[in-house]
Amino acid sequence: MSHPRTEPPAAPVASTSPPVVTAPSTPRTSEDPLARLARLEREAEQGGGAARIERQHAAGKLTARERIQLLVDPGSFVELDKFVTHRCIDFGMEQQKILGDGVVTGHGLIGGRQVFVFAQDFTVFGGSLSGAYASKICKIMDLAMKVGAPVIGLNDSGGARIQEGVESLAGYAEIFTRNVLASGVVPQISAILGPCAGGAVYSPAITDFILMVEGTSYMFITGPEVIKAVTHADVTKEALGGAHTHAARSGVAHFALPDEATALETIRELLSYLPANNQEDPPIVATNDPPDREDERLDDVVPKDPSRPYDITDVVKRVVDDGRFLEVQPEFARNIVVGFARLDGRSIGVVANQPAVLAGCLDIDASVKAARFVRFCDCFHIPLVTFVDVPGFLPGLDQEYGGIIKHGAKLLYAFAEATVPKVTLITRKAYGGAYDVMASKHIRADVNLAYPTAEIAVMGSDAAVNIVFRGELDRATDQAAARARYVAEYREKFANPYKAAELGYIDEIILPRRTRWRLVQALRMLRNKRQENPPRKHGNIPL
Ligand code: HXC
Repeated sequence: MSHPRTEPPAAPVASTSPPVVTAPSTPRTSEDPLARLARLEREAEQGGGAARIERQHAAGKLTARERIQLLVDPGSFVELDKFVTHRCIDFGMEQQKILGDGVVTGHGLIGGRQVFVFAQDFTVFGGSLSGAYASKICKIMDLAMKVGAPVIGLNDSGGARIQEGVESLAGYAEIFTRNVLASGVVPQISAILGPCAGGAVYSPAITDFILMVEGTSYMFITGPEVIKAVTHADVTKEALGGAHTHAARSGVAHFALPDEATALETIRELLSYLPANNQEDPPIVATNDPPDREDERLDDVVPKDPSRPYDITDVVKRVVDDGRFLEVQPEFARNIVVGFARLDGRSIGVVANQPAVLAGCLDIDASVKAARFVRFCDCFHIPLVTFVDVPGFLPGLDQEYGGIIKHGAKLLYAFAEATVPKVTLITRKAYGGAYDVMASKHIRADVNLAYPTAEIAVMGSDAAVNIVFRGELDRATDQAAARARYVAEYREKFANPYKAAELGYIDEIILPRRTRWRLVQALRMLRNKRQENPPRKHGNIPL
């Protein structure tokens, strides 16, 4: 999506010292009421003052207001609580009040649709959170819940306002509670655009998506100094909690972007796939891409040799509208691919094993990544299209000791619980328990398709022959020839989709070139799907 952009406003020309403190309720003698409002607006918009704005820019960061301008449709932002100030009277704080108190809150439009935004202003007390500041955030979160609109948080803060003590901690907890109650009701998106440390990380962590900017943002529970003191390990801020660390290693972040403008544009794009709340369907985006477009190159996309890798995102991009695929967590657990695309103008959530990484095996990280994505899509009525090429769960001590049993179960649980339309396509391998887990018919997928190259079996032919024909192989005079014969026999019988089709577990074996049309037809057929889970307070997903 491209939108006309206005340049961020120039930094206000003002003195280099912090703004002079004036309570808005104290008028200057005989000041004209309109002039008074204009003066206070100017004062509020100056945040922590020109010198601090300069420091913010020198650090490679935009100010809170500049960020909001880039995020929302031009001219659409309406600021609330611009004149709120903190209530602290300790440590000389009563002498230091800045209008707005370090967070800019309000509502605006993205792609013409309502959103609520808070942007922490690092130029005011380091963006630290006071009780009054927390109340501002809570106010827009409450409004977002009333009207059913997404909440976007732009984070850049030194954490709890140290001078306020427990009032600040209470403020965080008020926000966390709202994050939890809004989860699954309205989309919540967090951009980390500066520091985000200590317990403050937990608000973004509860939200649906976290975006970080390379080089200027970091998240951690305890910083490098504390880690050094406690564990003697030396680590930089960037290595501990920078964008790359969280996007590739911890999986905390969903997107790592090179700069703030790209991060804010990514939020706009992400929202274009999502409904405003859980009572709405996702928006429809018209396309000129014909729904029945065939792609002959798909006929050869799966290599003849079952052990040769290929990139599943090639298949996804060839199939979806205009080849547009917004991959989520592209650097983390790369053996599974998740993300948003459209088919027939309607949003879909794609889950796909990636044969090019770890042969597409499911491991702990892949299971957790995909499970959370599946549950997000289910919350917001986004149909799931699953591409399967999985040789099984990754064997290994670290996997077993790390709890692959409970983590793999998360994905099984998420797929089975989801009531959105579910369409599954097996391109090649679907082996063992991973066959069941990857949105099989047995866990309530609605339409299950397979390419003629699909192999649906308990395990690969080599492994199967070792077990089933162990005695025969031991007795054979030419063991290699015997093995080759048994493998060929086993492959012929089981390494294809026809047994599963015979049993009705696969609804149709399709020509790869027709993938797009078949998926569109399946999703059109399922458009009015209604399915309810049994009444209960909530399930108990294996966390
Ligand atoms: C009050 C703060 C502040 C804070 C920064 N400032 N953090 N004021 N409370 N938490 C102020 C500074 O005093 C300074 O004011 C201005 O913001 C900018 O800070 P600098 O230190 O000059 O900036 P920088 O060098 O970029 O360093 C940023 C920083 C550092 C790494 C965030 O300020 C810092 O370490 N702050 C303390 C972080 C912290 O310990 N927070 C509490 C964590 S516990 P002046 O007037 O000099 O410009 C927590 C718990 C949350 O957050 C619990 C939730 C459940």
